[in-house]
Amino acid sequence: MNSFEINKIVMALLLTVLVIIGINGLTEVIFEEEKLASNAYPIEVAEADAEAADAQDSSAVIEEGPSLAQLLSVASASDGEAIFKKCKACHTQDMGGKNLVGPNLWNIVGRAKGGHEGFSFSDAMYAKGGNWTYEDLDHFLTKPSDFVPKTKMSFAGLKKATDRASIIAFLRSLSDAPADLPMVEISEDVATEEAPVEEVPAADTAE
Ligand code: HEC
Repeated sequence: MNSFEINKIVMALLLTVLVIIGINGLTEVIFEEEKLASNAYPIEVAEADAEAADAQDSSAVIEEGPSLAQLLSVASASDGEAIFKKCKACHTQDMGGKNLVGPNLWNIVGRAKGGHEGFSFSDAMYAKGGNWTYEDLDHFLTKPSDFVPKTKMSFAGLKKATDRASIIAFLRSLSDAPADLPMVEISEDVATEEAPVEEVPAADTAE
């Protein structure tokens, strides 16, 4: 290898370096304008989404679950009849059925509290007053001694809201003319879920 060849190699290397530096410099010149004042990806949107998700999470925690009306709208009386086995020791269900430890429950929905003829209720039950609404039955069956303190009904209660709804659906069926079911309120988010009307700017056709 002679010095001429070495020179060629050195020149080639130098040229390469120069070209690289040149391209770098050139891209800087070309793309300098492209440096963005703000982030190209709008992170605020993602943050807003995250905040919304957070808000939903926390509201989900305090949400109370379906209402009695909602549960009743899907409850099955035959499921309730199965659960009614727990009540049969003290209650009959048929029209004109006899009173046992507790009163016969035919036509119980809408009936006056302590209103069944021929049964001697506790003073507490007579004092409670009003008729048996779905809500009242739900409260009573959750824990009888909470809704009517000093009641004669010694029954711990049904803890599961779905079980109570089933049994209330069954109690409702113990009638020639079952009472209407409560209206289910349409939840707000469903009611307002209409798509927002977007304003589309009119196309500029003037020339
Ligand atoms: C250990 C016996 C016993 C069991 C079990 C029992 N009850 Fe009772 N129930 C009673 C008695 C006694 C009363 C009267 C309460 C009073 O006078 O305070 C009563 C009252 C009621 C009343 C109010 C009746 C009215 O005319 O005002 C309803 C409704 C009722 N029971 C439903 C049920 C249901 C549903 C079950 C089963 C989930 C059940 N009971 C289980 C003894 C019982």
